[in-house]
Amino acid sequence: MFSFFSKKYFLKDQLEDFIDIHNHILPGIDDGAANLQASIELIEGFNRLGINKFIATPHIMNDYYPNSPESIGNALRILREELNVQRKKNIQIKAAAEYMMDQAFLELMMKEDLLTLTDNKVLVEMSYFQAPINLNEILFQLQTRRYLPVLAHPERYAFFHSKSLNKYKALKNRGCSFQLNILSLVGHYGKNIQEIALRLLEEEMIDFLGTDTHQMRHLEKLSSIKISKKQLQLILPVIDKTKESFRF
Ligand SMILES: [Fe+2]
Repeated sequence: MFSFFSKKYFLKDQLEDFIDIHNHILPGIDDGAANLQASIELIEGFNRLGINKFIATPHIMNDYYPNSPESIGNALRILREELNVQRKKNIQIKAAAEYMMDQAFLELMMKEDLLTLTDNKVLVEMSYFQAPINLNEILFQLQTRRYLPVLAHPERYAFFHSKSLNKYKALKNRGCSFQLNILSLVGHYGKNIQEIALRLLEEEMIDFLGTDTHQMRHLEKLSSIKISKKQLQLILPVIDKTKESFRF
């Protein structure tokens, strides 16, 4: 019999063995896990989804979260020690960062090596209100140093939204890869962001997926996501590419 309701698929069923390359699970150093206990709870939540490999990406944001390789390395060590004590041997965590592209970022990259997701890939974000006025300069300087910028959640920057997606195309032409937040697919950040997320997927402009998990409610929402067959077909290659590119 004809049905108005086409079949929907749980996205979580496709996330077994996924490597999450964008999350805030390190304890106490940004707006993610507040302490060690919260980190462990998040990791256990991920485990229930079949995810046990992580590249933790705490914010490095001059005014709010002035993290450094030292503060991040320290939080990673504390978390790994606790996982060891709790005999959670199946968990593998590396750390990088989510760099805010502000003036301090430009100075930072002149001064020291950046924390990379893998090889030379650097996760970067920008303000939700406006692009950095020196965005071109930042991208140029990154590439001069042979870094490959991976733009976190491109769909969330409303000032890039347009029918033609031309601002996104320009960023890709300038060498940016795009990392979509999985929760954008279900309107967690709003309807416009959901629409652009789906369009970027349809146009095959999304390179990688990440959860950007800060707290347990993000994981709860993630586990309930249902998508259409068409969306599933768009997303599976991106899941594979993410696993392939960041394998460890
Ligand atoms: Fe993030």
